[in-house]
Amino acid sequence: MYSTTHARAALIRGNPAGGSAHIRAQGVSVTLGGHPVLTDVDVTVSATSRLAIVGENGRGKTTLLHVLAGLLEPDSGTVVRSGSIALAEQALDVGRGETVGSLVELAIADSRRALADLDAETEALAQEHPGAADAYADALERASALDAWDADRRVDVALAGLRACTDRDRELSTLSVGQRYRVRLACVLGARPDLMLLDEPTNHLDAAGLDFLTARLREHPGGFVVVTHDRALLRDVARSFLDLDPSEDGRPRLYAGGYDGWVEGRRADRARWEQDFAHQRTEHERLVQAAADARSRLRTGWRPDKGTGKHQRATRAGGVVQAVNRRQEKLEVHAVTVPEPPLELSWPTVGTRSGRPVVTCSDVTVAGRLPQDVSLELSGGDRLLLTGPNGSGKSTLLAVLAGMLEPTTGHRVQHTGARIAVLSQEVPDWPTGVSAHGLFERHVGAREAAGVRGRTSLSSLGLLDRRALAAPVERMSQGQQRRLHLALCLADEPDLLVLDEPTNHLSPRLVDEMTEALRTTHSAVVVATHDRQLLRDLREWPRLELSVG
Ligand SMILES: Nc1ncnc2c1ncn2[C@@H]1O[C@H](COP(=O)(O)OP(=O)(O)OP(=O)(O)O)[C@@H](O)[C@H]1O
Ligand SMILES: [Mg+2]
Repeated sequence: MYSTTHARAALIRGNPAGGSAHIRAQGVSVTLGGHPVLTDVDVTVSATSRLAIVGENGRGKTTLLHVLAGLLEPDSGTVVRSGSIALAEQALDVGRGETVGSLVELAIADSRRALADLDAETEALAQEHPGAADAYADALERASALDAWDADRRVDVALAGLRACTDRDRELSTLSVGQRYRVRLACVLGARPDLMLLDEPTNHLDAAGLDFLTARLREHPGGFVVVTHDRALLRDVARSFLDLDPSEDGRPRLYAGGYDGWVEGRRADRARWEQDFAHQRTEHERLVQAAADARSRLRTGWRPDKGTGKHQRATRAGGVVQAVNRRQEKLEVHAVTVPEPPLELSWPTVGTRSGRPVVTCSDVTVAGRLPQDVSLELSGGDRLLLTGPNGSGKSTLLAVLAGMLEPTTGHRVQHTGARIAVLSQEVPDWPTGVSAHGLFERHVGAREAAGVRGRTSLSSLGLLDRRALAAPVERMSQGQQRRLHLALCLADEPDLLVLDEPTNHLSPRLVDEMTEALRTTHSAVVVATHDRQLLRDLREWPRLELSVG
């Protein structure tokens, strides 16, 4: 992504406006790196909005949230804002020295200020300053609108609800990525702005955190916009859907009627589009034929018919030429709006034999990170769901399983020749300036140098379109980067695929396709996830539940 202002600056802005808060964006267009990302988008967010912005990875959802929040100026179009607006960004970088407390203070600065003003006005009133009564009434109204007295408690409740670090002196840089996200999300929820813009808020939440977020969104007195791959959250909280995926007329579509309204509306629109396309193609073929017939009549028209005079032949030929031209023109203006076929995931076939041993862990623990000892034996075709609250050691166990972390006690044995690929919770730090294609080539090259061959090409996987493949990775959206990471894992054609929160950042459609592939692949698969829909879809898999402490 391009870099906007520091994440901290984006946290909250604007003065509270209660029920009249809104963001009205009209005709918004944004071009990035020479490519149109948003074209002529209209969207209104009001104090009652429960809006989901959806679309494939890289469609511009984050870009649109940045425009709505005022972090990015659109190339054209207008955005009008009123009210307090908070944005929880998809990416998170923390400044040096920032603490849990400094972020909290920033989030509730309005309330702090309102209370300080109220104190000052109370004092002025006591001293009977002229105009003090009106000023006091204003200050009281502002503090009441913010429920400023309750701001600290609200943040504390949110920190606890999301199991975030409550120690306000703790430096954010010393927290895990997931912990930082939870602190920041708690600040946004606790600040209770008029309008909340949330970009992939569920990525680091466990079951309890997801329930808390869902409840908070349901009872939020203002409006919100959410971008999420979490189908359960979309179903639970979103009322309308702005879909940025390609449509027949190229404009984003707005669907009412909640999740089902979106799914059904999208299906109907797509069916209509395909039908229109089929009609257009039939018409196009008819016009091509008509033009060809006219041309062939022109040729025969020049042939002198017996008994026709030279003058007659020339007149007829002129008419036929005109007919040909007319038909040709008609053909040219007849645009065929071809629906862009969406990419479809094509999971490579892996040659792992069912029951072939891959890796065995016996009584492994990791000091301070995985307290309970775990024994696991995984062979080709095996499945395992790993669950447990934040901090129970799921990612640690996955790292041990994959051979990336030595257990403190216990043993791990990887069977000779067995390949293991790991999709980590966050995308790795890619080198900058390299395209997805370049990275893939490097990855495959390194693997081949180690004597491991594969047949999977990047384009065959259907994960990234041509434009995304050519872009430097740092300019790819978060979801596109995650797709690339998945592509690298699949290129290894692994005997064991280890997936840590695999649905994070991915589009709901890809998640559906991936779920299907995970059920049928010959590889052994271990999935750690909090994704409620994925847990439902894989409910027949054996499950290992870790606990905290
Ligand atoms: N600095 C940049 N230069 C060029 N292109 C960029 C830049 N930043 C982002 N893009 C491109 O803009 C498009 C939209 O990105 P954006 O992050 O808004 O998508 P998104 O819908 O939020 O994706 P995701 O679902 O993966 O989060 C992507 O194709 C991305 O590669
Ligand atoms: Mg995004």
